[in-house]
Amino acid sequence: MNARHLVSLRDLSSEDIHEILEVARHLKLEHRSGVHHTLLAGKTLAMIFQKPSLRTRVSFEAGMEQLGGHAIYLGPGDIKLGERETTEDIALNLSRFCDAIMARVFKHETVVDLAKHSTIPVINGLCDMDHPCQGLADFLTVFEKKRRFEGLTLTFIGDGNNVAHSLIDGCAKLGMNFRIGCPEGYEPNVEVVAAAKKLGASVEILHDPLAAAKKADVLYTDVWISMGQEAEGKSKANAFKGFTIDSKLVAAANKDAVILHCLPAHYGEEITYEASRSPGSAIFDQAENRMHAQKAVLVLLMS
Ligand code: CP
Ligand code: NVA
Repeated sequence: MNARHLVSLRDLSSEDIHEILEVARHLKLEHRSGVHHTLLAGKTLAMIFQKPSLRTRVSFEAGMEQLGGHAIYLGPGDIKLGERETTEDIALNLSRFCDAIMARVFKHETVVDLAKHSTIPVINGLCDMDHPCQGLADFLTVFEKKRRFEGLTLTFIGDGNNVAHSLIDGCAKLGMNFRIGCPEGYEPNVEVVAAAKKLGASVEILHDPLAAAKKADVLYTDVWISMGQEAEGKSKANAFKGFTIDSKLVAAANKDAVILHCLPAHYGEEITYEASRSPGSAIFDQAENRMHAQKAVLVLLMS
């Protein structure tokens, strides 16, 4: 892998992404057959969290343990990034103690700043712009279910948010078509869309969820209100009425469509409980794959 950090999937080449996914499949198989890895023995990952997490925290911590290393959780109250100390000084300190930093932050610039000042790899564990680790787990799941990427259509129903951006980036690099069904005013970032189109990718933006779901190979959704947007609450939720993956949207997609959700889910909002448990749903495989995909990233960046 050529990149030194994982800030966004836009920074990775198509070869980098394929390599991560291949290493992830290999590590997953070995883990399942009881192999004990020592690839990161003696190595420490610092995990900075400005926001809550279930999957990111546990999958990174368990992943480090499984590779023979160790992870340190630094919660919102611990280091008070940007308040108690500058991002630069935090990066310089952690670079002296640890071997990599994973950071879940509010602002994209914070991860960029951490990467700029640290002498160790920095991994974006979600920011307002991107969620690259989620995207890698999602593409690992798509490959497990479909055995290919090229020519598949992934439809995202909901907000043009951080998760949607990483999916756009990844689809563009893997030869998949991306389509979003979102309310007007909630389209993905224009620069992210432009970067994907520059690579020759198909990115369709529709405002009709049913039309967007038609003949999709992958039907994906995420919460309507992301962490940090709580103030937008009710008015945002109103705009998203009808943008719910339910039996009607599932029926509009291809018969063997894979249903994905990065979780946490708000059942009855972006997805019905029934759709989340329908035969095509792979949401818990997807959650498990966070760990395998991230283990690959950790090994490739840290060893
Ligand atoms: N999907 C995801 O990142 O989950 P957490 O917010 O629980 O980490
Ligand atoms: N878009 C969501 C993803 C949660 C994993 C958020 O940022 O809160």
